Amino acid sequence: MSHRQRIVVANWKANLPPGEEVALAGDIATELARQHDVAAPMSVEVLLAPSHLALVAVTSHLRREHPTIGIGTVAQDVSAAEAGAHTGESPALHLLGIADGVIVGHSERRRERGETDRVVGAKLARVVAAGMRPILCLGDDVRDGGGAERAAVLELQWTAALVSAAEHGVDRDALVASGLVVAYEPVWAIGSGRPATPETASAAATIIRNAASADLPILYGGSVEAGGAAAYVASRGEGGGRIDGLLVGGASLRASKFVEIVTAVRTSVGAG
Ligand code: PGA
Repeated sequence: MSHRQRIVVANWKANLPPGEEVALAGDIATELARQHDVAAPMSVEVLLAPSHLALVAVTSHLRREHPTIGIGTVAQDVSAAEAGAHTGESPALHLLGIADGVIVGHSERRRERGETDRVVGAKLARVVAAGMRPILCLGDDVRDGGGAERAAVLELQWTAALVSAAEHGVDRDALVASGLVVAYEPVWAIGSGRPATPETASAAATIIRNAASADLPILYGGSVEAGGAAAYVASRGEGGGRIDGLLVGGASLRASKFVEIVTAVRTSVGAG
């Protein structure tokens, strides 16, 4: 059994209006408190990623109504620009004190918003410079076989983001020291109902750690459901491509389903 902290992130995307996001956060906190001894040290860090519109309200609600449960929040995205005259942007500095971290480079932003590795690197740099923890999403579109192809895509995404972050004043060491988490999110698995196997996720974790030359915490995301959740985080022994947690989209929109996933992760790594 590993004593590493596991992390489970709920990414609500743009699925719910803000009022429902606050209610969902409350339901998750209530259900977690009911099922778990929240006085015991948490072996799983639970983070909710509401929409920007609901981030303040969800964070305030959790702090006010559920102060002891220890659920944090992260932003789904951040501006590549510094604070200033940038209409409609949400700079990292302004997220400080509201969110515990920021998701950067989600594939939906890469595909739908044309976000390049260069932009992703700039965002990483802003987050780190603001003193926040980034959750960097990397993901291939190589569904079958293709270990070498997958490795090439992931290495390229990592390296290009790193180069861009360095150009924006944040080098690799600073990035790693920020508490950087990487989420392996294969594009073909997200929202498809066909998750990557734990073996594929584990192999990707090894590729990413090798590319980063660092023992980064790595999450898996893409069609995670409660039934399959535990297998990802189960220990694989020495050099086995450890997965430290999950990034959950669709299955995080129902409190009971999401808490089942948290419970599965907690149970698979021991009590707590
Ligand atoms: P999904 O989304 O669980 O709905 O596949 C995961 C993600 O995009 O983070």
